[in-house]
Amino acid sequence: MVKRHRIQFPPVNVHELDQDEVYFYLFEGDSKEKIRLHDYDRLFAIPGLYEQVVYERLKCQSPATVAEVLRYSVSQSHQRLNELRVLDLGAGNGMMGEELKKQGISRLVGVDIIPEARAATERDRPGVYDAYYVMDFCNLTASDRSELESWSCDCLVSVAALGFGDIPAQAFLEAFNIIGTDGWVAFNVKETFLNRSDDSGFSQLIRELIFSEYLDLYHLQRYRHRFSIEGEPLYYFALGGKKIADVSASFVESLSLPAD
Ligand SMILES: C[S@@+](CC[C@H](N)C(=O)[O-])C[C@H]1O[C@@H](n2cnc3c(N)ncnc32)[C@H](O)[C@@H]1O
Repeated sequence: MVKRHRIQFPPVNVHELDQDEVYFYLFEGDSKEKIRLHDYDRLFAIPGLYEQVVYERLKCQSPATVAEVLRYSVSQSHQRLNELRVLDLGAGNGMMGEELKKQGISRLVGVDIIPEARAATERDRPGVYDAYYVMDFCNLTASDRSELESWSCDCLVSVAALGFGDIPAQAFLEAFNIIGTDGWVAFNVKETFLNRSDDSGFSQLIRELIFSEYLDLYHLQRYRHRFSIEGEPLYYFALGGKKIADVSASFVESLSLPAD
């Protein structure tokens, strides 16, 4: 039985904080610890804390939604969902892996930049992934790349991990090119990333990719990702599609991506 934690969201108005600066307090006996929602090493080190804060309190529905978008996209083809070999980029403590298992997918490879994510997955969801690598997708070595390619993944998923100081555009494209041609792609992004007024690297990439010769879009769904700490709904888009070809170097150069 996982321990319940005493947590408290800050009473002050935190509207001016960026999404990656938001924090809460964790009480243990007499001590009070401030933890940011992006302090993943700390969150994952404490069993059940990430689930309690992000999934119970803030009602995150992204892994289930992106898994459903993937299922719906694949259902529009003659391929079978349970035959996919999935690369889960920014897998965290395995919430998406668990959802994909529920959909009948059994071949799963997880990747995350921090060892605490893998340790938490092995502790709380053992056996969900066939392999789970600690790698920084911004700095893959040739041997990282060939290790990942050896799994012949034909599907890339990434949930709540793109942008906002997590996985930058270049790293996402690296993962896109690791999966096979004709592979499936399912991920989520904040709704403003599809807005022309947002000129961040991620925003540019997603808008260009959706209508490019590299991806066939199968499904695009706006939904409530979770609530903010102030209780306001945060809307995201979940996308499902089929890869047509590796993204070329000239496409990447044409985006002139900043390192965000
Ligand atoms: C908000 S968590 C999402 C975890 C999980 N996908 C979920 O939905 O619960 C974002 C994850 O992306 C990982 N991440 C950030 N930058 C990364 C990078 N450059 N390469 C691989 N993983 C990264 C973080 O360590 C973190 O576990």
